[in-house]
Amino acid sequence: MYTQRYSATPKTPIKARPVFELNQVTVDFGKLRALRSIQLSVQAKDVLFVTGASGAGKSTLLNLMAGLTQPTSGTITLAQESEKFFVASVFQDLRLWQKKTCEENMWFSYDSRIYDSKEQFHKELIELSRLLGVYDHLSRPIQDANGGLKSKVAMIRALLTKPNALLADEPTAALDKEASFRLFEVLSHYNQKQGLTLVWATHNREMVKQFPGLVAHLDAGRLLYSGQACFI
Ligand SMILES: Nc1ncnc2c1ncn2[C@@H]1O[C@H](COP(=O)(O)OP(=O)(O)OP(=O)(O)O)[C@@H](O)[C@H]1O
Ligand SMILES: [Mg+2]
Repeated sequence: MYTQRYSATPKTPIKARPVFELNQVTVDFGKLRALRSIQLSVQAKDVLFVTGASGAGKSTLLNLMAGLTQPTSGTITLAQESEKFFVASVFQDLRLWQKKTCEENMWFSYDSRIYDSKEQFHKELIELSRLLGVYDHLSRPIQDANGGLKSKVAMIRALLTKPNALLADEPTAALDKEASFRLFEVLSHYNQKQGLTLVWATHNREMVKQFPGLVAHLDAGRLLYSGQACFI
């Protein structure tokens, strides 16, 4: 039961310009309207859960924020258009290299403009792998990894790019409850300590209830609710 249907995006103190700002955005795929007049603003350091049934438009919304999908009408302003703001995505299909190992997949994030040395990158790779229970599987080819391991590798690969914002599309779909919560805790830490803006599409209502954050709930392409998770 939603207590605040059709509410406007809550007024939060303006820190800077929003990271993502959608103004009356509609997305059509041929005759199919995937998103309808979406009005949504995400501020830096927000944690936003995007919820809704299969086909509601969650991935389309994240793809818009990633700049991969263009609105059919309406406008979207993206902070990543500024040089200093970097957005990473963990896609629903993960997009890992099947024949490479878990560690080799993570090395695709190495960038000498971000890291002082390969040793420093490797240290962070190991640290994150230990935190998420991937360490013992680093030399395993992705094609031999289970769904949970693959999603953790995709998440670590994204975090190693040191993004300002992370768009994660159902990253816990293949994880059990304990592993899902662990993953979210790690990301919460990045949110609190480094100000990572987090947009997380999920079916997992339990997680949304457990962690403080904002929710954008979609139903057949409409934004039915946006606001504090505690009100849903
Ligand atoms: N590239 C595309 N071409 C045509 N239709 C698309 C495309 N992408 C999405 N759609 C359609 O748009 C609607 C919204 O899809 P979307 O993938 O955003 O939903 P979702 O909420 O992410 O669903 P799921 O929970 O299954 O991942 C669906 O009806 C889907 O079939
Ligand atoms: Mg999806």
